[in-house]
Amino acid sequence: MAATQPAFEPIRLPNGQQLKNRLVKAAMEENLGAATLAPGGEMLRLYRQWAEGGVGLIITGNVMVDKLAMTGPGGVALEDDTDLAPFHHWALEAKHNNTRVWMQISHPGRQVFKAMGGKALAPSAIALNLGKHSKMFPVPKAMDEAEILDVIQRFVNTAQQAERAGFDGVQIHAAHGYLLNQFLSPRVNQRQDPWGGSLENRARLLMAVVRGIRAKVSKDFAVAVKLNSADFQRGGFDQQDAAAVVAMLNRAGVDLIEISGGNYEAPAMQGRTADDSTLAREAYFLEFAQALTKVSEVPLMTTGGIRGLDTVERVLAAGVDLVGIASALAVQPDLPLRWQHRADFRPEIPTAKWKDKTLSGLANMAIIKRYLKRWGAGKSSYRLSPLLSLILGQLRQKKLVKRYRSLYIEPFQGSTMQPGAAETLAQ
Ligand SMILES: Cc1cc2nc3c(=O)[nH]c(=O)nc-3n(C[C@H](O)[C@H](O)[C@H](O)COP(=O)(O)O)c2cc1C
Repeated sequence: MAATQPAFEPIRLPNGQQLKNRLVKAAMEENLGAATLAPGGEMLRLYRQWAEGGVGLIITGNVMVDKLAMTGPGGVALEDDTDLAPFHHWALEAKHNNTRVWMQISHPGRQVFKAMGGKALAPSAIALNLGKHSKMFPVPKAMDEAEILDVIQRFVNTAQQAERAGFDGVQIHAAHGYLLNQFLSPRVNQRQDPWGGSLENRARLLMAVVRGIRAKVSKDFAVAVKLNSADFQRGGFDQQDAAAVVAMLNRAGVDLIEISGGNYEAPAMQGRTADDSTLAREAYFLEFAQALTKVSEVPLMTTGGIRGLDTVERVLAAGVDLVGIASALAVQPDLPLRWQHRADFRPEIPTAKWKDKTLSGLANMAIIKRYLKRWGAGKSSYRLSPLLSLILGQLRQKKLVKRYRSLYIEPFQGSTMQPGAAETLAQ
């Protein structure tokens, strides 16, 4: 395969940053963080492999802006007083081979497992509805004004810290049912103050975060947003909302918008919706992203279900500038290099197709995370079983939850000590 394929053509972003090709490692939470909530040794090895594997841009797994609001155990948090040395090493490993690296920064809002503890915040006190699995998540607290302002400041602090640590940019996670998406969604945001109601109000938090970050980082530091094309739930954030938010972002100094979809209740990012809409079998959100090219003055990327170079080329031919790939790069970190030698190469991704869709979804995440751990441990990979991955994943999660709770949550229960001060115990 010649290097003149569209997938391997460079692109220059609005801030002047050049990416060597159109292939992007999309965010995947690795759950390989150290007890200190910093990236550990396995993470560094994993990212070096992605950099050497040929992608133009690596977007990290989500990094929390608040260590007391974590999407899962073994996660990473970056706050204004965090030691930057491990983050600096992480950026260095990811930047090998002329690869750019952006940190995805995130706040889970109400999507915090009850078992983890910590803060479960949301625009309104509406819990997740996962049928018989709903009890895994708490009823969140409706945020007051001070909590909203605190979250904005935290996003800005984390972005500034990412720049100091040597990252080339940040991606603000406003998709998949996390906090910023919760504010955008009329199902979860039922506020009657300036942070809820009209779309302009529902987007106020996202826009404040984007503008707050852009005002504090260098001009050549990339600021990107991951946005749902729709929540794929009745009464949720829909396609018209997405087009209007993209138009708002046109004027906010953003360098890339990644189009995804869904949330924990309606996992469209795994190809399943909760309304009647159907998604394409590959490149799930391509039709939506293509429609948004008419509105967007910012480069667009779409992620979801992309496995083969033929699909990559279809995405680019539709006018979408970049192609996000997650699962396929977990199974095959050197996928771009393979494509340069064999254009028809397709990684085989083991998947669970059980009747219980929630369990299948958990098993599929567990498989991918097991691949990440194996690459990080320097092991070769092979076809992993969904059931075994789910069991091993649950056992590992249990251990990591215990570690997190013992260091960050339990020491402060019923005490007046500052939550999080136990960090020193975790060093
Ligand atoms: C194990 C795993 C972890 C993920 N973690 C994140 C994350 O931290 N942030 C995010 O925006 N998306 C996350 N995703 C979603 C992916 O970025 C992507 O949108 C989704 O997997 C669809 O792309 P794919 O079909 O190429 O995997 C994760 C996906 C997987 C499989």
